[in-house]
Amino acid sequence: MSEFGPTELSGCAEKLIRGRHSTRAFRPEAVPEDTMRRIFSLAGTAPSNSNAQPWQLEVVSGAARQRLADALQVAHTAGHTSVDFPYSEGMYARVHRTRRAAFGAELYGALGIGPDDHAARAAYDAESLRFYGAPHAAFLFVHGDGEARLAADVGAYLQTLLLAMTAYGVDSCPQGLLSFYADTVRAELGVTGGKLLVGVSFGYADEAAPVNRVRTERAPVASTTAFHD
Ligand SMILES: Cc1cc2nc3c(=O)[nH]c(=O)nc-3n(C[C@H](O)[C@H](O)[C@H](O)COP(=O)(O)O)c2cc1C
Repeated sequence: MSEFGPTELSGCAEKLIRGRHSTRAFRPEAVPEDTMRRIFSLAGTAPSNSNAQPWQLEVVSGAARQRLADALQVAHTAGHTSVDFPYSEGMYARVHRTRRAAFGAELYGALGIGPDDHAARAAYDAESLRFYGAPHAAFLFVHGDGEARLAADVGAYLQTLLLAMTAYGVDSCPQGLLSFYADTVRAELGVTGGKLLVGVSFGYADEAAPVNRVRTERAPVASTTAFHD
């Protein structure tokens, strides 16, 4: 084998990285505290610009998770949304909108929800605010005023966190939807600083749930990556 060819580590990395998928139905069993600490310690090794590590995690379990899930339902019913990072469908280029639509069709298809059944889709989204039944959720706050530049650091943290979870046999779903209730999360958890970028629900997958069989495609490397000599 060449010095630069596949190694034992690349085999593990392929398995780990390709083995991570978003989970949208969880069993109620909690992740042991020791495992959680190892996961978040490993996630903290993520790279960031000048090693600033401009992230702050708020993790909810048990009664705190239940209180927050209830508060999110109340906020949702009252139409009380609040975002720290602006969002609009228009921020996506056409090709990315096409991919989003294909994913949506796949996901709602697996749930047996038709493309025009807006009521069922809305009900599912509301239910997802209960963290898809996961016993834990982590809220990722960005600290500082650098917006996208700091979000790049936090994005690196997010993927490291998801892979650390996969490595420890813990399933996850990043949920941008949770960031639409930033004020509710802040108030419930007593958070005073930072901007909420995303929440991550995590625990152990309900393997029997059809939604967990959804698998997403990726664009071919040639369409996303140019190699220059
Ligand atoms: C920043 C971010 C926000 C996301 N928000 C949601 C969400 O609100 N609800 C959801 O079900 N999945 C959400 N996802 C999961 C994506 O739909 C998923 O990562 C994508 O379709 C690729 O599928 P995979 O994670 O199984 O590889 C989010 C993912 C990321 C990275």
